[in-house]
Amino acid sequence: MTKKYAITGGAGFIGSNLAEALADGNEVVVVDDLSAGRRENLAGLDLEFVEESILDPDLLRGAFEGCACVFHEAAVASVQRSVEDPIQTSRVGVEGTLNVLVAARDVGAEKVVFASSAAVYGDSPTLPKREDMRPEPKSPYAAGKLAGEGFSLAFNEVYGMRNVVLRYFNVYGPRQDPNSEYAAVIPKFVSAYLAGKAPVIFGDGVQTRDFVYVRDVVRANILASEAGVPGGYNIASGTRTSLNDKAIGYHQGDHRLGDGAGVFGATSRRYQGFSGGYKACRERRIFYEVHHGKGTSRSDSMVSAIGWE
Ligand SMILES: NC(=O)c1ccc[n+]([C@@H]2O[C@H](COP(=O)([O-])OP(=O)(O)OC[C@H]3O[C@@H](n4cnc5c(N)ncnc54)[C@H](O)[C@@H]3O)[C@@H](O)[C@H]2O)c1
Repeated sequence: MTKKYAITGGAGFIGSNLAEALADGNEVVVVDDLSAGRRENLAGLDLEFVEESILDPDLLRGAFEGCACVFHEAAVASVQRSVEDPIQTSRVGVEGTLNVLVAARDVGAEKVVFASSAAVYGDSPTLPKREDMRPEPKSPYAAGKLAGEGFSLAFNEVYGMRNVVLRYFNVYGPRQDPNSEYAAVIPKFVSAYLAGKAPVIFGDGVQTRDFVYVRDVVRANILASEAGVPGGYNIASGTRTSLNDKAIGYHQGDHRLGDGAGVFGATSRRYQGFSGGYKACRERRIFYEVHHGKGTSRSDSMVSAIGWE
């Protein structure tokens, strides 16, 4: 049966990859004010596009009518901009998220899948990051994400929704803007590689990140919409990769991600006993597929990322 889904921020990097995955066989509406996203990211997709801001609650109610699930990706996705203008970042991140939750509740959507960020953990040296760690946001951006998480989960308690919070680590892949500072290093490395130049690495390159491929993030969103038990989850590759690993990988023409030792993002939920049942199993698939590398294979990931415009 055809389902209807809404994607806020659907003209952006992650939202457009999600739209591409959902548009075939479902009814999809994208709400994006194009402040950072691009209409071209949705070229050729069969969906409804609403060029408006999530700061308009009436508009959201209209767009979400009939939706089973709302994927909330819209944000001012920049730590730097949140430092320069915390009020505008919070307007979109906090007030906008609240608008999305209220509109989803009002139209009877079962859940909102909220795009949060590993930034909520702050910079404590403890690795891997686990969901049961105390969040320590270090920027207005991260503080806004934590507020959005709180609202999402509070709506489960008071309105009986089944909202899911996904804390993305460093996402990379097709349609990522190399000029966005939040996009971090991967698109910059790929652009340098395609131009035959050496990538520029600040520092000694040994700083590590957990890079997760956008199609695994899309997969996690879809699993969360289908069966994810309400709550918050890390969406990470489970692999700790240094920037040098990445740069070396590109230059050798070896498209593997570097195999850094250890784990950066992990999930505490893996260690909790599940009571069994279909939903718990489906929920666990998020971990198996995304955390244990059984989603998109690494080599496929990099070939596809190298191939983007
Ligand atoms: N890219 C990452 O590595 C990463 C990591 C952690 C979390 N996230 C989160 O994932 C989500 C998607 O990130 P992205 O990398 O695709 O960023 P992006 O900037 O490409 O996409 C965000 C989209 O939101 C839209 N938008 C901004 N303000 C809006 C408003 N008021 N109304 C409607 N649309 C609005 C923008 O036009 C853009 O298309 C964001 O919430 C971001 O904070 C991303």
